[in-house]
Amino acid sequence: MTYEELIEKAMEAKQNAYAPYSGFLVGAALLTKEGKVYTGCNIECASYGATNCAERTAIFKAVSEGERNIEAIAIVGNSDEYIYPCGICRQVIMEFGSRIKIIVARSEHDFMIHTINNLLPNSFSFSNLKKTDGGL
Ligand code: THU
Repeated sequence: MTYEELIEKAMEAKQNAYAPYSGFLVGAALLTKEGKVYTGCNIECASYGATNCAERTAIFKAVSEGERNIEAIAIVGNSDEYIYPCGICRQVIMEFGSRIKIIVARSEHDFMIHTINNLLPNSFSFSNLKKTDGGL
């Protein structure tokens, strides 16, 4: 699967976005190291805080199916701009691998690739938790 094809999958997923409050449609498509694709869209809720972003929808679908080896995730929005993952999604992306390629796309032919270390520097991660003494 090429990055162009992955971006197309994200565009298809965007069509399922449920965003009646913001009107901001987002699609994501995640590629596993084995070549499987999981897609996601944003899903809003009248209780706004319950909203789930497209990226987390895709990641949670993959992880809940037993997939943890994520190669790349492509993200598209319904604006002319590159749509970057929000802070919460960056943390979730970090959870599943610091080498995931984050593809922000305006079209199949117009995209940029980032790493999570670049988008979430000096992050909190599992390695910090190992250092705790549990409050003793
Ligand atoms: N949203 C995403 O799905 N992904 C992002 O990276 C940024 C924001 C959604 C959440 C909400 O439904 C809408 O965009 C506006 O914030």
